Amino acid sequence: MTDTTDVSELVSFPQDRTCPYHPPAAYDPLRDARPLTRIALYDGRPVWMVTGHAVARELLADQRLSTDSTHDAFPLPTERAAVVRSRRRAALIGQDDPVHHTQRRMLIPSFTLKRVADLRPRIRRTVDELLDAMVEQGPPAELVSAFALPVPSIVICDLLGVPYADHDFFEEQSRRALRGPRAEDTQDAIEQLEGYLGDLADAKRAAPGDGLLDQLVVEQYVPGHIDRRELVDLAMILLIAGHETTANMISLGTFTLLRHPERLAELRADPSLLPGAVEELLRFLSIADGMLRFAKEDIEVAGTTIRAGDGLVFSTSVINRDAGVYADPDALDWGRSARHHVAFGFGIHQCLGQNLARAEMEIALGALLTRLPGLRLAAPAEEIPFKPGDTLQGMVELPVTW
Ligand code: HEM
Repeated sequence: MTDTTDVSELVSFPQDRTCPYHPPAAYDPLRDARPLTRIALYDGRPVWMVTGHAVARELLADQRLSTDSTHDAFPLPTERAAVVRSRRRAALIGQDDPVHHTQRRMLIPSFTLKRVADLRPRIRRTVDELLDAMVEQGPPAELVSAFALPVPSIVICDLLGVPYADHDFFEEQSRRALRGPRAEDTQDAIEQLEGYLGDLADAKRAAPGDGLLDQLVVEQYVPGHIDRRELVDLAMILLIAGHETTANMISLGTFTLLRHPERLAELRADPSLLPGAVEELLRFLSIADGMLRFAKEDIEVAGTTIRAGDGLVFSTSVINRDAGVYADPDALDWGRSARHHVAFGFGIHQCLGQNLARAEMEIALGALLTRLPGLRLAAPAEEIPFKPGDTLQGMVELPVTW
């Protein structure tokens, strides 16, 4: 059937945020058009934007949706993504079941609550050491490079068995992979990371250590259950998703707390609020703002037919502010139960690292508030740069003093 939508009237996706912790103002009309509506991608292609909380969870749990980014129907949000994602499917997030299920099953034991509880002392030590160094050298400090990025970066290196000494290299390549700016940068960054992780896999095969990648080499790669390419793909998503995401939550979370002094004071007065506050910050900030899928078959939902081949975008920032689920959704409120937000996604691709991310945020934000009671921004809030809409949301830099 020919699509007769007049795309010139549609809101285009993605948009830059107007304020780093609120959904883009350009999405306001979409918030009134729940649970799903039409939007346009950069190339004018109309796709569905899912905005209602219940419908989002229903659809994300529906295996008639696919994440195969090499398929023509997959909604590509930027020209840069189109060049890169059309070439190869990522591990896990780019795979549908059963391949996805097989890959995920290899990794689940390393990300359980119990395993993360065992990692807590190590996370705490990392956080303390970084704050010691920051306090010794400051004030002021640039919080992204001094704290928000190294915390998850050191932790994921430890967990995977990647040498943290190489962090300048992989952090820079991850940044280029996610933010370009040009398609060639992104492509080149992915190739550099593939080369690096391939060499690391070879070294581990010759002399295995005790990280998760070493375990994958010994248990999966050497016996031939996965090939070198699949091993590298798995390592790549774990390394990138393991540090870029939490780093953004720590930096944007800190900025948001400093812009909400009453909420900050409540947290300082009662640290037992912290786990709930982390959950509310995840809902409020929704840093992974745009999960992408296409329909493999016709799907009836909320009185609408999504046709086979239709693209879908899930805006977590809009979904997590559904007033039907969260009263006064634009308010940051430690008193609400923010559970059931979709900041970690939902369904088979729901974030594998969520237990780890929660522990990192709780320990990092808790220590920051306790150890630096005078923490404040060291530049006018409006002048502090934050990330553009086509990538993970977060602060580019965060100058602070105390
Ligand atoms: C606060 C930090 C984090 C946020 C907000 C976040 C968000 C998300 C979201 C929204 C998804 C689902 C994407 C989709 O369905 O299209 C996802 C998947 C994933 N995340 Fe996270 N993530 C975070 C931290 C982490 C960490 C620390 C790791 C550690 C390795 C990680 C590893 C993954 C992986 C491997 C997937 C793909 C899972 C699958 O396809 O089965 N994430 N994450």
